[in-house]
Amino acid sequence: MNVALLGTGLLGQGVAERLHATGHDLTVYNRSIKKTQALRQQGIRIAPTAAEAMSAADVVLLLLSDAAAIRAVLFDPAASRAIDGRTIIQMGTIGPAESCSLEKNVTGLGGRYLEAPVLGSIAEAKAGTLLVMVGATPEHYDKWAPLLRYLGEEVRLIGPVGKAAVLKLALNQLIAAEMAAFAFSLGLIRRGGVDVNDFMGVVRKSALYAPMFEKKLSRLEKRNYAQPNFSTRHLLKDVELALSAAEKARLSPAGLQGVRSLLIDTIAAGLGDLDYSAIYEQIDPLGSEHG
Ligand SMILES: NC(=O)c1ccc[n+]([C@@H]2O[C@H](COP(=O)([O-])OP(=O)(O)OC[C@H]3O[C@@H](n4cnc5c(N)ncnc54)[C@H](OP(=O)(O)O)[C@@H]3O)[C@@H](O)[C@H]2O)c1
Repeated sequence: MNVALLGTGLLGQGVAERLHATGHDLTVYNRSIKKTQALRQQGIRIAPTAAEAMSAADVVLLLLSDAAAIRAVLFDPAASRAIDGRTIIQMGTIGPAESCSLEKNVTGLGGRYLEAPVLGSIAEAKAGTLLVMVGATPEHYDKWAPLLRYLGEEVRLIGPVGKAAVLKLALNQLIAAEMAAFAFSLGLIRRGGVDVNDFMGVVRKSALYAPMFEKKLSRLEKRNYAQPNFSTRHLLKDVELALSAAEKARLSPAGLQGVRSLLIDTIAAGLGDLDYSAIYEQIDPLGSEHG
């Protein structure tokens, strides 16, 4: 299987390493060459343009930031021509309407389009344990699920294009809401002079517990958000997408709007490219304990 992968950021690198390790013939492209260097050292082929990466492949995986990045990369004149006869699998987190619009454009250029957003991050991508949600026709799903199973054993057909994108937004607003809620509780605990071990001991045994609390606890305690798995900036993107989907569905945005404003302030404080758990700095800022 000849695979092209466009976008070797945090998630794209993990996916590229996994596909290479499982014996796929892989060519990658990234706008800034710097982020391809580690992959080159592992023997992965680097193409200078998206079109050249695509021309060597049967299938093209997109691991780009958002719909604007996808359009910039996929629809430049040379890449547009390379879509003809190829399958594009979009794996980033974008809105359902954006995904449907991409499907239309790709089909119009003679290609086939599936969406396959994922839950999980760099470690899960490298280990092949991502949760993969597919929006596609049953025929396209049957054809490409075997490839996607190298990235995650759980590859689930959700419905036609757009449906997996909705599911992904529903999941990512949970990430944002859970992170903000946990940061707030931890702030209360620490400022209230309660032992964090007592708090975690009770939470772990309760129905409130989420494994994410454990994963993020030490970052919050040390106020260390370096080497992100997923950035604050991208979480805000997903919250904005969820709010826009909520508006169309006539759901109340009130709860999520508060989280959105915390994320905006976190980015304004210069923490946009760090791990999204940096939202803690807005909820429990250093130096305001006795304010
Ligand atoms: N990280 C995760 O754990 C995770 C998990 C699930 C889903 N996702 C989703 O997967 C997607 C990628 O996430 P990520 O964390 O890998 O993001 P990232 O590290 O920020 O990487 C983003 C990629 O998009 C490229 N890009 C951005 N704007 C571009 C433009 N205008 N033209 C060309 N290339 C552009 C970047 O290229 P440059 O290097 O040149 O900037 C980079 O390759 C996002 O939609 C994210 O929400 C991420």
